[in-house]
Amino acid sequence: MQTTWNPMSWKELPAMQQPEWPDNDEYEATLKEITGYPPLVFVNEIKSLQSALALATQGKAFLLQAGDCAESFYDHSAQTIQHKMKVILQMAVVLTYSTGVPVIKVGRIAGQYAKPRSSPVEKYGDLELPSFRGHIVNSEELDLKSRIPDPSRMVKAYHQSASSLNLIRSFTKGGFADLSKVHTWTQEFVASSAEGQRYEAVAFEIERALRFMAACGIDLSKEQVLQQVNFWTSHEALLLGYESALTRQDPASGKWYDLSTHSLWIGERTRNLGGAHLEFAAGISNPIGCKIGPTTTIEQVLGTCEKLNPNRIPGRLNLIARMGADKITDVLPSLVEAVKREGHQVLWTSDPMHGNTFSSSGTGLKTRRFDVILSELKGFFEVHKELGTWPGGVHIELTGENVTECLGGAEEVLEDELDMNYNTICDPRLNGRQSLDLAYQVAEMLI
Ligand code: PEP
Ligand code: CO
Repeated sequence: MQTTWNPMSWKELPAMQQPEWPDNDEYEATLKEITGYPPLVFVNEIKSLQSALALATQGKAFLLQAGDCAESFYDHSAQTIQHKMKVILQMAVVLTYSTGVPVIKVGRIAGQYAKPRSSPVEKYGDLELPSFRGHIVNSEELDLKSRIPDPSRMVKAYHQSASSLNLIRSFTKGGFADLSKVHTWTQEFVASSAEGQRYEAVAFEIERALRFMAACGIDLSKEQVLQQVNFWTSHEALLLGYESALTRQDPASGKWYDLSTHSLWIGERTRNLGGAHLEFAAGISNPIGCKIGPTTTIEQVLGTCEKLNPNRIPGRLNLIARMGADKITDVLPSLVEAVKREGHQVLWTSDPMHGNTFSSSGTGLKTRRFDVILSELKGFFEVHKELGTWPGGVHIELTGENVTECLGGAEEVLEDELDMNYNTICDPRLNGRQSLDLAYQVAEMLI
């Protein structure tokens, strides 16, 4: 039993899904260098996210957490980031306008570079390679050399996260997210679609309401909440060396924070109770998510709550159910009931993506069906309605681009169209139209 936590105390426990760095001295030297870098986010930002999530835990707000499965070192233009933010802002507008519930916007962005894998190797015909573990570790290219973990990639991930954050801050605080600009967030390929036109109608109504307020004498230029938006970052706390190198003690409170991002989550493959990932997460004061898959037991879920949120602080712990559409209504109720019975403070959210992935028979590409994603979401909302608990948010893999990675949607992507624009380096993402469509459907489930 651990008595004193420190950013390295996880090292005494088994750590799953860690790369085998070929040169340990080089790895340690790189971590030492990163330890000297400035933090990427600030404690007060983390605290304000925690307060927002506390409201969601109490049923007064809704979390929209969304972005890439794996961010890429190649695809890092201002435009890509802007498109992703546009679609998340649009989804938030749809949800807020339709339900009247404040929406907390958290991106899987500015640090989502490390990936857990089901198998340590991948097969491509006769070729067997060590698995791709995200650009912070290795490259997805199909040769052995590219798959060797390279510590210098952690430095690159740090710098790329910093430049993404810089853009995010300027987009959200510099006028682009001003509510009077709701019209300008629609991308061309979305504008002509049914979802795009439905969004236009909402945008028009919002503009009319703003004009009305101005006509009543309210000086909108003085209302900061209309001009700026809070947009927080998150990623999976997978690569523990990197995370601990960016963990710092807040001199004011003496608490530890992982300053690589605002919020982190523990993945389904690394949530074991006696493991290093929970140990690390237990000692940092950021809001923490934990994925829970279809095999989660009551004992595990209660153990996770005890370990990650022993003081029952609202906004600290987000349990992210990712059960699969066919299992959610069977598995989730007893877990929610147990958590409620024990009086734990938990934000319940739904990841309808990761329990519903399969390989398309024609192309072999990993994909997900839009209607199955919706079906898991429906199950999640049904369970909470039945139990009188708050379905506090959704966790979605999406991109602002016009990709063909997930099947279906109002303007259907068909199985033989998957390879037309399949760009993900990991899991399949909803495109801009499918994301907006999903926001409308979620809004209907919420009201
Ligand atoms: C992910 O969120 O990309 C992921 C790998 O999820 P999970 O841990 O739920 O499988
Ligand atoms: Co994923």
